[in-house]
Amino acid sequence: MKTELLRISDPTDPRLVKVGQTLRNGGLAAIPTETVYGLAANALDEKAVEKIYEAKGRPSDNPLIVHIAHFDEWKPLVKEIPESAERLAKAYWPGPLTIILPKSTLVPMKTSGGLDTVAVRMPGHPIARAIIEKAGVPLAAPSANTSGKPSPTTASHVLHDLDGKIEYIVDGGECTVGVESTVITLVGDRPRLLRPGGVTPEMLESVLGKIEIDPAVFNKLQEGTVAASPGMKYKHYSPTAEVIIIKGDFEKYKSYVEERADENTAALCFDGDAEKLCGISILTYGEETDSASQANRIFEALREADEKGYQTVYARYPLADGMGLAVFNRLVRAAAFHIVEL
Ligand code: TXA
Ligand code: MG
Repeated sequence: MKTELLRISDPTDPRLVKVGQTLRNGGLAAIPTETVYGLAANALDEKAVEKIYEAKGRPSDNPLIVHIAHFDEWKPLVKEIPESAERLAKAYWPGPLTIILPKSTLVPMKTSGGLDTVAVRMPGHPIARAIIEKAGVPLAAPSANTSGKPSPTTASHVLHDLDGKIEYIVDGGECTVGVESTVITLVGDRPRLLRPGGVTPEMLESVLGKIEIDPAVFNKLQEGTVAASPGMKYKHYSPTAEVIIIKGDFEKYKSYVEERADENTAALCFDGDAEKLCGISILTYGEETDSASQANRIFEALREADEKGYQTVYARYPLADGMGLAVFNRLVRAAAFHIVEL
């Protein structure tokens, strides 16, 4: 299949009509969102959804997020919308937040990975919403990467992973958030955060009161336990290079990485660290005290590690609260939980 790349900056661009039609009729298109690029298909069409799993090489028990453009498209997808869910959506939609509720029969089991719940999100990116509108159906869209690889934050990342496997890639520029949406489940007694993202725990609690944070946000899932979010049990966000996170102040980090420097090794550090490190290749992921800038850069930096062919990458430890929790969560998975404390 030939993949057509469309550069589109205006949500009223007429070329979005053919993208929408292709999606409605069972085809695949990568679409820009404010978090990461998504690999979209008609969420209500089992055959179309199956193609997503195939193109990504994704295990079929890992459920997809269903994307909508308007509030009234939510109701048909779920059993009911509790008052807490409504308040949460009103506060943060459109935006980087996904809400899980028991699903209606309209949502195929293929879409929900066999679960009786469904994850729904209204993206903030105007082009994403325009594509959903043109499709006229809700769109299932996981991140548009090969399963297990770092999520794509530019159209060229998508092209690298999915060229020849999908009909369209809509290039809407760089993703502003840079990590995937916050995922919260409102199924069960207490709201539970399954994946941290651009909507922070504090922002959630300001609407919902106390929430639980699923242990899998911080820790490796123990052998034999059932994942609240199936995505958490799979290897994730991993470049080919081995990533090791170094916890300790900058001076300790510097001597640790400089001792281990060779042509196959890089330091994954913050903007401005480069001048202070000697004899080692540098990758950067944002400013030391700015988690949003780290989120914006982390996946691209991990992809750069592979492009440059590094075998080992020593990462500086990020801030791990607020928006930083999302950065930490992705980096620790890319590192397969390998942290060295100095
Ligand atoms: O920002 C995002 O959310 C991006 C863009 C494209 O919208 N999408 C995305 O999708 O990150 P994906 O498939 O890469 O991640 C969805 C995560 C997975 O970890 C999956 O297991 C979890 O959400 N998930 C989806 N539906 C679920 C459900 N019903 N119950 C529990 N977890 C669910
Ligand atoms: Mg993903």
